[in-house]
Amino acid sequence: MKFEPIARGTYPSLVYPPYKSTVKRGPQQPLLRVNAPAATETPLGFGAAPIQPQDNDLTAHGRAAPLGEKIVVSGRVVDEDGQPVRDSLVEVWQCNSAGRYFHHKDQHDAPLDPNFFGFGKFFTDRDGRYRFVTIKPGPYPWGNHHKAWRPAHIHFSLFGNVLAQRLVTQMYFPNDPLFEFDPIYQSIPDAAARERLRARFSMDETVGDQMLGYAFDIVLRGRGATPFGL
Ligand SMILES: [Fe+2]
Repeated sequence: MKFEPIARGTYPSLVYPPYKSTVKRGPQQPLLRVNAPAATETPLGFGAAPIQPQDNDLTAHGRAAPLGEKIVVSGRVVDEDGQPVRDSLVEVWQCNSAGRYFHHKDQHDAPLDPNFFGFGKFFTDRDGRYRFVTIKPGPYPWGNHHKAWRPAHIHFSLFGNVLAQRLVTQMYFPNDPLFEFDPIYQSIPDAAARERLRARFSMDETVGDQMLGYAFDIVLRGRGATPFGL
């Protein structure tokens, strides 16, 4: 395995002091490019096994409908040339409509919803498309600083053909008043790149009287890439 130095400034710094935990976990040394043995030829072989039919409907796992605003989110995963990224395993996780995660570490004083667990997974299709149904997540406080509230967001993880190609990012909603106060969102230096993390409201994706639709395309590489590592 070879390591080649990467010139400073090639990638935005992952240390952004207003986002306090980046100071401890962000790299302090110059980055190195790792030329690992090529594994990209080998399909990961997830197969369809880990996916159950309702894994793309986060509202379908309780005894009744969860509380909150039901929405559908869809989009395409593409590479720098706009070509579809097919059969990518996409996982999403989020808090409920009151801003609380179904997780023991989240002790935020907001109600849990017994009908909402906040986790979904699905594959992109032959055209790189995905679609899932959920509840619009609420904003939540996270203790980074005085009055630190995260804008509503959904976490995304995407796998390519090998485990090493995992990418993690967050999707936001249009016109959130918390954007300008959020050090995680603001840690992305390029305004156009921040913009690419915002879903668009889509009347085309809206389903009758059931739910509003949002569109969120993900670009894995190139100038128009969706920011990752959040
Ligand atoms: Fe979150």
